[in-house]
Amino acid sequence: MTPAELQALIRTVPDFPAPGVQFRDITTLIAHGDGLKASVAHLAAHARDAGAQAIAGMEARGFIFGAAVAIELGVGFVPVRKPGKLPVETIGIDYALEYGVDRLEMDPKAVAQGQRVVLVDDLIATGGTACAAAKLLRQAGAIVDHAAFVIDLPDLGGAKRLAEIGVSVSALMD
Ligand code: PRP
Ligand code: ADE
Repeated sequence: MTPAELQALIRTVPDFPAPGVQFRDITTLIAHGDGLKASVAHLAAHARDAGAQAIAGMEARGFIFGAAVAIELGVGFVPVRKPGKLPVETIGIDYALEYGVDRLEMDPKAVAQGQRVVLVDDLIATGGTACAAAKLLRQAGAIVDHAAFVIDLPDLGGAKRLAEIGVSVSALMD
């Protein structure tokens, strides 16, 4: 399926979870077997081209696509989690996203020193989540220079913000 066909499977819900937000809901995309498979194949091609030695996904929607991409490439998956979920000593970072503030945590031993880790998530808006994840992974010793998304919302400036910290962005649609 082409990115345009995939775009038609995503629904936009106004004013969720806050007034003024146009929420891009991927539930309808991942419910479609061919749509899910094609989305993962496109993301995996970007991650392969970027030299991924591991994939990191941000909880929760990043787990859906990230784990599937890791399986497709035959590399490991690093979960970057919301707070209080990991049973070991973690490193963490607070951040802001389009509709609030949150925190991400990871096991610093989940990546090898110098390992090239590609970020995968469903969507980049302000880039707050992806920037925070890139910083955490770098703190743990990974090389992070590419991130792949299903959807980029360019008006919110996320890809630009990631570029400023040395992370290039690919997306299937905007
Ligand atoms: C969404 C989305 C991205 C992030 C993008 O996750 O899956 O991770 O927001 O926004 P940003 O570019 O402004 O940071 P959310 O925190 O809503 O969590 P969820 O995956 O659990 O729904
Ligand atoms: N995460 C941040 N902004 C979003 C949006 N507009 N739609 C879906 N997920 C989001």
